[in-house]
Amino acid sequence: MGKNQYRAERPGTDTYYITTFGCQMNVRDTQTAAGILESMGYLPAADPKEAKVLLYNTCCIRDLAERKAYAAIGMAREIKAKNGGMVGVFGCMTQQTGAAQELMRRMPFIDFAFGTHQLHRLPEFIHAAQEKGRTTLLEEGNPALDFDLPAAYGRPPLAYTNIIHGCNNFCSYCIVPYVRGRETSKPMELILEEARTLMDQGFSEITLLGQNVNSYGNDWGKPQFAKLLRELDAIGVPRIRFMTSHPKDLSDEVIAAMAECSHVAKQIHLPVQSGSSRVLRRMNRKYTRGDYLCLVEKLRAAMPQVGITTDLIVGFPGESETDFADTLSLCETVRFDAAFTFNFSKRKGTAAFDMEGEVAKEVMTQRITTLIDTIKSISTKTYQGLVGTEQTVLIEGESSRDSSCYTGRIDRGITVNFPKGHGVVGDFVPVTITHAKANTLFGQER
Ligand code: SAH
Ligand code: SF4
Ligand code: F3S
Repeated sequence: MGKNQYRAERPGTDTYYITTFGCQMNVRDTQTAAGILESMGYLPAADPKEAKVLLYNTCCIRDLAERKAYAAIGMAREIKAKNGGMVGVFGCMTQQTGAAQELMRRMPFIDFAFGTHQLHRLPEFIHAAQEKGRTTLLEEGNPALDFDLPAAYGRPPLAYTNIIHGCNNFCSYCIVPYVRGRETSKPMELILEEARTLMDQGFSEITLLGQNVNSYGNDWGKPQFAKLLRELDAIGVPRIRFMTSHPKDLSDEVIAAMAECSHVAKQIHLPVQSGSSRVLRRMNRKYTRGDYLCLVEKLRAAMPQVGITTDLIVGFPGESETDFADTLSLCETVRFDAAFTFNFSKRKGTAAFDMEGEVAKEVMTQRITTLIDTIKSISTKTYQGLVGTEQTVLIEGESSRDSSCYTGRIDRGITVNFPKGHGVVGDFVPVTITHAKANTLFGQER
């Protein structure tokens, strides 16, 4: 993006603060918004109460995500009344039909709201708010315009980059395809250029983001994700991670690239959603329980130490006790390192919204509790199995619980805390695992 024609009223003095909800892709979009604001002369504020520009990057994946966003935005009224700043809302929630208008009607202090495809126009909206006009802007844009916007990446060593926007899959429960548009891949040269810049700035680990990274390149007619991994490995990005992978698109080529590229972490987030083929069909996931188990076997054959994590939904309409038992048994078979578990949440406009067989709330609560316990007891055993091994850890920062310790992740993605030794933040160090607790490993730098 060239020099910004819109500037802050007092460049170098006025500040901004962005509150982010939702997934890593939103976290990365927030970095883009921050980059744009900094190009206008705004500085980051440490406290939202002091910020001249208050922004909210929203999520609507589940009802709870929307309620959280509404509650947080409601608090902006007081801040604005005190410091005379401006309030803007963007992201997935405000991309839903009628949602931005409804939000601005209910909260008249909001200056502007826009959806997921207008981030490049942020300077214009701020300018309009300075001129005291209120704006709502949702028309479909071109996600490609986002690809070379500036970004404020934060402090090394961890960086994110969005390699593919949107989703074409229309899983029957999911709102994402409606609020993020169709799949649009970022050109490979731009990704490699960004990776080189990040390495120059001292970043050691890049996580490639997409709703379905395995379909990277499909919009040009050919899957290119395996090639992208090999290219990034070849230019020497010290550690490469990626998420999310849709099981239906995880190819043998991608598994081979993961196994053969030494810089690609042996970790995969492979959401299964349910262990019942019947439920998977109703979810429109396009694979069966058997297909999923077969992928897990292939991954383990190629990389015996691979860490597999997943997402699971309980209480999908029509989920019976037998279906749920299938989910539990799949977890026992796969032995996930970790899993995110969700109660099904009805989303307006999706196919599952009025499906028959609603599962009662108490049943959902009971099932999710059982599921969480099962996953925990399996992962605890896996973690204990790692005690005594030596692992390569990228030091990410000080442990939040103990300032005499560092925290980082082993290659397969599990977090480890260990007393500070020779290494500093950004170094890869050899760590011997000494003991394991519920969600963390503990170790000693060698
Ligand atoms: N693109 C990713 C998932 C993005 S959403 C993928 O396909 O794997 C992250 C997770 O939220 C999903 O994997 C799913 O488990 C959960 N989720 C999505 N819609 C949901 C809904 N309506 N109710 C409950 N959980 C949902
Ligand atoms: Fe949603 Fe399915 Fe797309 Fe993931 S693949 S974002 S769950 S529609
Ligand atoms: Fe939420 Fe949008 Fe991500 S709905 S999960 S922020 S893609």
